[in-house]
Amino acid sequence: MQLIPQDHPATLEPDCTRIATHLAQQGWYVCPNFLDAETVKALRQQMFQAWQAGQFRHAGIGRGDSFKIRPQIRNDQVMWLDQASATESLASYFAALEDLRTSINRQLYLGLFDYEAHYAVYPPGSFYKKHLDQFRGTGLRTITTTFYLNDNWLPEHGGQLRLYTNPIVPTEFIDIPPAAGTLATFLSAEFLHEVLPAKRERLSITGWFRRREP
Ligand code: OGA
Ligand code: MN
Repeated sequence: MQLIPQDHPATLEPDCTRIATHLAQQGWYVCPNFLDAETVKALRQQMFQAWQAGQFRHAGIGRGDSFKIRPQIRNDQVMWLDQASATESLASYFAALEDLRTSINRQLYLGLFDYEAHYAVYPPGSFYKKHLDQFRGTGLRTITTTFYLNDNWLPEHGGQLRLYTNPIVPTEFIDIPPAAGTLATFLSAEFLHEVLPAKRERLSITGWFRRREP
């Protein structure tokens, strides 16, 4: 007997509903072509301009007083985004993520109330070792999203997001290429993940849906 793949490509279900359904069932999902190619291209150009203008900072580990730059753990550079001053293409990105937030709340009752995001550049040779996205002692970051902006990404470029898909079987993982238009999502507190060394400059927007402080 042949099994019908769950993710039939001809599905007419809107992306946000499908992402939320998979988050509810398995805790993670990878959605190709989440935004149209024009928007992705504009985002890549704007991000590259900001990079060249020196608006990025070395990313670190921890928050507040415990923030430290640890290049042996991660060596990407980031620029936090401000929705209020977003360009047209960035506003489209935030609007799509707002749709996703509503779909997730409808299906998972998580009470997500806001979204924080940054651009990230991994210069050639950069990586981010295996980690969880929730800060110790806080449960606010609930769903992680990574949206990729890289055209013509080939396996030999490395830089995959390695997502450990089974929290009780540490050897199970999938490798997600950071290909333009792909949105990866997962529950921030449950899924270990890492960015394998990228041989080419790797551009992305990483963000988190958050719950309210208790
Ligand atoms: C992060 C992260 C993954 C990626 O920034 O916390 O894990 O694929 N990013 O960029
Ligand atoms: Mn992470």
